[in-house]
Amino acid sequence: MSNQSETLFIIIFGATGDLTYRKLAPALYSLNIQGSIPERFYIVGVGRKNLTDEEFRARMREGIKLFSYRSEIRDSSIEELLEHFLYIKSDMVSHEGYTDLKSLIKKKEDESGGAINCIYYLATPPDLFSVIPFRLHEAGLTSEDKGYIRFVFEKPFGYEYASCRKLNEDLHRILSEKQIYRIDHYLGKETVQNILVMRFSNGLFEPLWNRNYIHHIQITSAESIGVENRGGYYDSAGALRDMVQNHLLQMVGLTAMEPPSSIHPDAIRNEVLKVFQSLQPLKEEEVPEYVIRGQYTASKVMGQCIPAYRQEPGVNPASRTETYVAMKFFINNWRWGGVPFFIRTGKRLPTRVTEIVVNFKPTPHFLFHVDDMNKAINQLIIRIQPDEGIVLKFGIKKPGSGFNVENVSMDFHYSDLLKVRVPEAYERLLGDVIMGDSTLFARDDIVETAWKFLEPVQKAWAENRDIKIYGYPAGTWGPEEAGKIIGDGLEWRYPCKNLADDGTFCEL
Ligand code: BG6
Repeated sequence: MSNQSETLFIIIFGATGDLTYRKLAPALYSLNIQGSIPERFYIVGVGRKNLTDEEFRARMREGIKLFSYRSEIRDSSIEELLEHFLYIKSDMVSHEGYTDLKSLIKKKEDESGGAINCIYYLATPPDLFSVIPFRLHEAGLTSEDKGYIRFVFEKPFGYEYASCRKLNEDLHRILSEKQIYRIDHYLGKETVQNILVMRFSNGLFEPLWNRNYIHHIQITSAESIGVENRGGYYDSAGALRDMVQNHLLQMVGLTAMEPPSSIHPDAIRNEVLKVFQSLQPLKEEEVPEYVIRGQYTASKVMGQCIPAYRQEPGVNPASRTETYVAMKFFINNWRWGGVPFFIRTGKRLPTRVTEIVVNFKPTPHFLFHVDDMNKAINQLIIRIQPDEGIVLKFGIKKPGSGFNVENVSMDFHYSDLLKVRVPEAYERLLGDVIMGDSTLFARDDIVETAWKFLEPVQKAWAENRDIKIYGYPAGTWGPEEAGKIIGDGLEWRYPCKNLADDGTFCEL
């Protein structure tokens, strides 16, 4: 329990943006009703808009009501929380607003007489990551004399290896690594954390989790939505920066890592780092063979016309930004030597699903007739979302004459765990920042190593105009070329069929 004379400030920069509205305010609501925020606290929104405290509260009220994932929302609890919300106008670049923030903190400090802890949450475009901490530092708001100071950075953390490294170096001039929390909200998902428990608490899986028994691993993060109102940001990011560098590689890290010596944050993160350091570097000339990029084109899905990516608001009509990436790579270490990993992600695919599919090697000899290699392979499917759960697929004798093999599934759904509430990712992560637990945050060396791995891909795409970008109709599973990278007569797992009624696969 916290010391009652302590005051916690959570200062959100970029507080008028979507993230605060949809994710942070609902997460704070949840944390507050379960008593996970210390008694004395203020949530200070900092943003460019000219808002009064009341107008800011009204927006947060709406966000909580629309996006809280709690089954029951009480007006009285929302109002109780909103009393703690304050707003300061600032362009965040000039000194505007920083003095107001300082006076506010000083005033509350004088009132309480106790320690003042500050969490600065940067829910801003990444170009402000190297500005805001320095403005706060100049204003004397980063000293830990009166309490702790923690900084939370949203992603993307850098645009490529060099800018990520520079940002880390700059921040380390004024902050220690333990004060920095780099968000990868996938790490806040209960099912992503469960990868560790599944692997390291089950004698059933542990002996099989290596090159001797695993044929290959597929990790998919598919979205059915397009870029919505984020065209401007997305067009300068693309799927590689937006999803692969962070969410997908983090899932690779947890799936492939060695058992940590303990569950201490650094013990876990050291093992993830080792996986990233063992990723077989791609040569630029290998990029077209190992990495397929695509961009969605217009189509009709169940009678509804879906615009092409290039027609989305904020997107350059001649854009070559990828909305889809499929990639093959190897992890050069003792456990995984020779086992291919395949990852893919895309917008406007037929459904929303994130899953890790562990494909086991077939039996050494086929006693029963096998007409399709895909059916000879047992699969363990870790369903990250939605319908969170685990499926084990294996063959049984098809009842009747002869020995025909049929694949069946053993399913576990988190939803079967009645009365167990699964916290939303941002709730878990914000709660961890308040507790000072950095296990689920990306460490400096991890983000840098992830960017380093992708550097040849970014370079090849930027410098070689001949590398194709494939168009795929919105509502399909991406470019047909992505299917070919699996090889060996095997396929990606397709949790459902293509949805588009028309549209053409083409080269853009
Ligand atoms: C974000 C990306 O990090 O993750 C978005 O910027 C993407 O483009 C989102 O839509 C997906 O998150 P989730 O939790 O819905 O899978």
